[in-house]
Amino acid sequence: MKIITFAAIKGGVGKTTLTFNYGEWLARKGHKVLFIDLDHQCNLTQCYNIYESQNTIANAFKGGNVDIKQVKENISLIPGSVQLDSVERDLENSDKKNMLLYLWLEDNYEKKKLGQFDYILIDCRPDFATATKNAVAVSHAIISPLTPSEFGYNAKFNLSTRLEAFRKDVIDYRTRESYITAELYFLANMIRPN
Ligand SMILES: Nc1ncnc2c1ncn2[C@@H]1O[C@H](COP(=O)(O)OP(=O)(O)OP(=O)(O)O)[C@@H](O)[C@H]1O
Ligand SMILES: [Mg+2]
Repeated sequence: MKIITFAAIKGGVGKTTLTFNYGEWLARKGHKVLFIDLDHQCNLTQCYNIYESQNTIANAFKGGNVDIKQVKENISLIPGSVQLDSVERDLENSDKKNMLLYLWLEDNYEKKKLGQFDYILIDCRPDFATATKNAVAVSHAIISPLTPSEFGYNAKFNLSTRLEAFRKDVIDYRTRESYITAELYFLANMIRPN
C-alpha cells in the first residue's frame, strides 16, 4: 500500500483536482483506492455528491466511528467534515495531536480491512496545520502542486521549511530517528505555454 498526500500552503493550486484525477486514473487501471478528505471545505467529498455530517474523518481525531463509503468500482472515500477545523483547535494542547491519524490507521487496519487498498490518497486544505501534519505523518509521499506565480514559488520554500521542521520535531527520542519519512515532490500545474 502506498499513502500519498496532496498538500500545499497556497490555496487553489489544484490539490483536490489532482487527488481526484489521480485516484480515478489509478482505479481505472484496476487499483483499489481510498480517498481521505482532510479539508473542511469537503470539495473532494462533494465530487461524489456526498454531504455527510456523521461518521466523518473528524471521528478519527475525536473518537467514534468512521465510515468508509464505496463510491464506485475500486474507489472508496472517507468523507470530510465541515467541523474538522474546530476539532483541530480543540486538540491544540494534546501531545499526540499530529499522530492521531497514524494511530487511527493502525487501530483500524484489520477492523476496516484497510489492507485491501493499493493506494490511500489524502486531500488537504491549504496550510501546514494539524490535519495536514497528520496526513504527512502517515504518508510515503507528498505531492505539492506549484503554479507559475511569485506567490506560488514562495509557497514552495514555505512548505519545504515547515516539513523539515516537522521532521525534526517528531522523533523517536531513543534513536533520534524521525517518524516522518515522506518524500516531497513538487508538481508544476496550470502552466500556460507562452
Ligand atoms: N491543470 C489544471 N488546468 C486547468 N484548471 C485547473 C487545473 N488544476 C486545477 N484547476 C482548476 O483550478 C481550480 C482550483 O483547483 P482545486 O480546487 O483543485 O485547488 P485546491 O488546491 O484544491 O484548492 P483549495 O486550496 O481551495 O483546496 C478549480 O477550478 C480547478 O478546476
Ligand atoms: Mg482543495
